[in-house]
Amino acid sequence: LKLAVLASGKGSNLKAIIEDILSKRLDAEIKCLIVSNPNCGAIEIANKHLIPVKVVTSNDFINRESLDQHLVNLLHAYNVELVIMAGWMRIVTHILIDSFKNKIINIHPSLLPSFKGKEAVKNALNNKVKITGCTVHIVEEEVDSGEILIQSAVQVNTGDTEELLLKRIQSQEHKIISLGIAIAGQRLR
Ligand code: GRF
Repeated sequence: LKLAVLASGKGSNLKAIIEDILSKRLDAEIKCLIVSNPNCGAIEIANKHLIPVKVVTSNDFINRESLDQHLVNLLHAYNVELVIMAGWMRIVTHILIDSFKNKIINIHPSLLPSFKGKEAVKNALNNKVKITGCTVHIVEEEVDSGEILIQSAVQVNTGDTEELLLKRIQSQEHKIISLGIAIAGQRLR
């Protein structure tokens, strides 16, 4: 299964995927990492594993559609079958969705459909839920919607801070991301 990872953060999910591939828990190959932030930690992880890195920043494009068209071209050039968004902080357009229908997945730090958007962990804390978690889902044009593939629950502890809770959520993300990839990959067969 040929993957592309789209990221802009520290790349801990990228690292988890790489580890699962190396230990043969996941039968896949990462063809490229695409980042929207030229200074993100994910780049270093990709370099270490000789994964090609492409930087795609919004400054270079007149609108979201032309950026997405560029992504589509890149993904085709690398023969990518499945696209993994792990912290791709960018709204995607029909240009990308239509070219990779059901072939783009995202990981989000809440139990969707609760707490969509960028402040998922903060909103979970503010709403005083006792259980939150993370979700791997198919990407649709509407943000953080699309069919849910797998979820993992995380308990909210008394006295939790956003940082502490996020840390526990992310350790669950690292457990389910490859399972989500495998489920999405199965459907392509
Ligand atoms: C993850 O927490 C994911 O849920 C969110 O962005 C974060 C990416 O983290 N969409 P990392 O770069 O994989 O460490």
